[in-house]
Amino acid sequence: ADRAAGERIRAARARLGDKVVLLCHHYQRADVYAHADITGDSLKLSRLASQSDAENIVFCGVHFMAEVADILSRPEQVSILPDLAAGCSMADMASLAKVERAWRELSAVLDPDQKVTPVTYINSAADLKAFCGEHGGIVCTSSNATKILQWSFAQREKVLFFPDQHLGRWSGYKMGIPLDDMVIWNPDLELGGLTREQIAKAKIILWHGYCSVHQMFQPKDILKFRNQHPDGFVISHPECSFEVCKQSDYIGSTETILQTVKAAPPNTRWLVGTELNLVERLAEEVKHEGKIVQFMAGTICMCSTMQRIDPQHLAWTLENLAEGRVVNQIKVPAHEAKLAKIALERMLAVS
Ligand code: 13P
Ligand code: SF4
Repeated sequence: ADRAAGERIRAARARLGDKVVLLCHHYQRADVYAHADITGDSLKLSRLASQSDAENIVFCGVHFMAEVADILSRPEQVSILPDLAAGCSMADMASLAKVERAWRELSAVLDPDQKVTPVTYINSAADLKAFCGEHGGIVCTSSNATKILQWSFAQREKVLFFPDQHLGRWSGYKMGIPLDDMVIWNPDLELGGLTREQIAKAKIILWHGYCSVHQMFQPKDILKFRNQHPDGFVISHPECSFEVCKQSDYIGSTETILQTVKAAPPNTRWLVGTELNLVERLAEEVKHEGKIVQFMAGTICMCSTMQRIDPQHLAWTLENLAEGRVVNQIKVPAHEAKLAKIALERMLAVS
């Protein structure tokens, strides 16, 4: 069945020519990844979406990525997500209503529009990016978060970072902010479950969000690897827990992980803490150099929503386009897109 879908994809693409560009995140399954025009991490794909001339941008990734492509592309370009159910469970952990409530509650302690820069990880809905655009804030990705924090502290003395606490904590730590100056905002509790004193002292207020895939990786996985392979290297995504990041030799975005391992000397061994599709593909690509690439978790963990983009959905999307029908378009409302674009363009200018 997959071969049939693969042939349908190729046939539809041949009919569409340069009317379509296929952007593909590194976590996509092999039978989708094989059709990509451009692959990358969130930052690279955002930049390339903004530079593309194609009429149709088909995004093999998750919902927030297709939203970013829509926001950064020209109004007449169309952004498409082959399966609308491909979301991101971490992005869903912060909603506009809850962030607005946090902002209101913070104003009981300080004036947030004077004192706090809101920073949203790109893994978030467009309305949260719009919130940041409106309140002097910015977007970050896994590859520029430390730089973005530096920019944010140049504006105001504190940061509210959502939704991923781990990326926020690691990036703050890397720029020299003590862990004691970071607190967690629990959106289900009044004042985030914090005291006024804690808020007044904090430099970074971290939203209580996390990635369910990356939280599977544990320090004991690294310890076991180091015992068995003292000469091996460990590389992880900054969505991993603080302890995992601290015990890794390298931390980076998906694109950085791929480039670092590919550029490493032959016959080296790597333990990789990120999604399984990426790790398996990387292991295949570098094995001829004698490099061994191992997955960090003891259990199989994939990003189940990234997996939803399958060859059947992709074939269906492209066949419709070839017939002149747009299916699964992602269109951010104009007022929201305008504000979100401000926050995204601030990010692109800084990184
Ligand atoms: P990257 O920007 O590093 O590709 O990360 C996206 C993501 O969702 C990681 O879980
Ligand atoms: Fe979201 Fe985690 Fe999947 Fe990345 S791996 S898209 S953060 S759920």
